[in-house]
Amino acid sequence: MNVQKLSNMKAKSQKISAITAYDYSFAKIADDAEIDIILVGDSGAMVMFGYETTSPATMEEMLLMSKAVSRGSKKSLLVGDMPFMSYHISIEDAIRNAGRFIKEGGMQAIKIEGNRTVAKTISAITKAGIPVMGHIGLQPQMAQSWDGYRVHGTNYLSAKQLIEDAHELEQAGAFCIVLEMITEEVSKIISESIRIPTIGIGSGRYCDGQILVLHDLLNLNDSLHPKFVKQYADLKKQSQKALANYKDDISSNNFPTSAHSWSLEPSELKKIQKYFGLIKKNKL
Ligand code: KIV
Repeated sequence: MNVQKLSNMKAKSQKISAITAYDYSFAKIADDAEIDIILVGDSGAMVMFGYETTSPATMEEMLLMSKAVSRGSKKSLLVGDMPFMSYHISIEDAIRNAGRFIKEGGMQAIKIEGNRTVAKTISAITKAGIPVMGHIGLQPQMAQSWDGYRVHGTNYLSAKQLIEDAHELEQAGAFCIVLEMITEEVSKIISESIRIPTIGIGSGRYCDGQILVLHDLLNLNDSLHPKFVKQYADLKKQSQKALANYKDDISSNNFPTSAHSWSLEPSELKKIQKYFGLIKKNKL
């Protein structure tokens, strides 16, 4: 997958699939499932590292997860999520950090949260040769401090701003834009009025593609249940059950069995038993 193929998909009205991943094994599963985009999201700060929000994520943590994901994926487009404060200090700093995702993390593109205020940064990173995915609507890195986790585009003014923001990001050179928790009608207008693909999360049916956080879709993390998540498996329940059975098997001597063990050759066994007999009799 690459930026041009994604653009072709939009042109042919083929829906784009995207998912987050943070480690080698799940990246491999997503890649085998032919998911078009794998995002190493800063949501990894919460679901992998246990922080309460995404803001504490560091470049080093994001790069660690990116490296693991890049080893697991061969086909999907890999996008690294620029963590809070990795692109705000200066444009130079933003380009340097974006470059680290490509050179060290094995990513092919990066994502930046922000409205038109990050357009200059997007333009500079794109000019450095790195494809940039925008992210408007709910911006989790800042939501908690500013206006909370809420739906965007619920009135004329907010809708107009979002539509303008999307156009500015397209002008700046973004290759696609994540629309997070934006009303369905506004997402539809945005998707129909820009040429680059929109990838929705909680933004309804008319985006050019969809993304979900892997741990929400598989119910690996049940602390949050946003309305927009469709749960495709309950791996938390299955994992809890598996580990309880494992513990029971150990307690009741049902694991391991001979099927999980190795034995000596009978002739070697005899020799070692004889040796052990001497030890017991204190004859060695
Ligand atoms: O970090 C993340 O997982 C994201 C997605 C929600 C788009 O930014």
